[in-house]
Amino acid sequence: TRSIKIAPSILSADFAAFGAECRAIEAQGADWVHVDVMDGHFVPNITFGPATCAAIRPHIKGVMDVHLMIAPVDPYIEAFAAAGADIITAHLEAGPHIHRTLQAIRGAGAKAGLALNPGTGIDSVAHLLDMVDLICVMTVNPGFGGQKFIHSQLEKIRQLRALIGDRSVHIEIDGGVTTETAPLVAAAGADVLVAGSAVFRGGSVADPAPYGENIRAI
Ligand code: DX5
Ligand code: ZN
Repeated sequence: TRSIKIAPSILSADFAAFGAECRAIEAQGADWVHVDVMDGHFVPNITFGPATCAAIRPHIKGVMDVHLMIAPVDPYIEAFAAAGADIITAHLEAGPHIHRTLQAIRGAGAKAGLALNPGTGIDSVAHLLDMVDLICVMTVNPGFGGQKFIHSQLEKIRQLRALIGDRSVHIEIDGGVTTETAPLVAAAGADVLVAGSAVFRGGSVADPAPYGENIRAI
């Protein structure tokens, strides 16, 4: 069986304590740290940009997984790569030139991720498979933490896993991951589970043990 990685989303962390939050979730067993960048245009919420990513970078020992929910995306790829992102994920829906965007991400020295909104099919992915290291299936509409998992995405995950075949491309799930939905997405073929509210619930930097309990429960 495939080994499953948990990538806590700092969207659910204390924004005034990102450094300490990143150290705490890694100490509690997080595999990757998932960083949600929102622009108030592509999605109806605003978080932060490359300067904040650069500031938290020294507090992450492992993989910094940056999810860009911004449009346009191309003008900012260099800045997020320079901020130390290991993986930069852009949305298929963010512009007309996703192929160029993925080329630019790899050209900047990062691994390339491709995110799909719940309403987006996988037809275009076939033409992009050799350009991506990760496909992120949004299991909620992007913009906010704590939303309900959209079950229709399970079939999309199964189809993507078949399409990927023996290539080494991660399938990451983002949104609504809980102890109930995690086994479903894992069985469908996902190997990286982003979880925000389900990881940070009940804990804090002063009392981070619940983070570890929550991660192990997923
Ligand atoms: C949603 C973000 C997610 C979000 C997940 O737009 O991309 O990473 O933080 O949050 P939960 O796990 O609470 O659904
Ligand atoms: Zn995300």
